[in-house]
Amino acid sequence: MTKIKFIEADGKEHEVEAQEGQSVMQAALNNLVPGIVAECGGFASCATCHGYVDEAWRTKIPPPDAAEEAMIECAFHVQPNSRLTCQIKVTPALDGMVVRLPVSQTNE
Ligand code: FES
Repeated sequence: MTKIKFIEADGKEHEVEAQEGQSVMQAALNNLVPGIVAECGGFASCATCHGYVDEAWRTKIPPPDAAEEAMIECAFHVQPNSRLTCQIKVTPALDGMVVRLPVSQTNE
């Protein structure tokens, strides 16, 4: 199991156990993490799974493809470390990863 910590915009933390091969978004949904909405079900077409990947893990995941980049541009409060969590596959290398959630998804 790979542990991933989600931190809501208000600082509330949720550490979840994710299975290798599932998406970071799915791990959040399975554990009812507030702020990961995932309206499109993981097809990189809604941006409601937007999260900020902490610097230490940015180099451990593949960069966003063109579809993800295009959708991130539609998200609110975009930062350089913005990613769609549905496009990040869980691997053992991500153990301990921290994903912060934008205020736009927790206050809607
Ligand atoms: S779940 Fe819709 S873009 Fe990730």
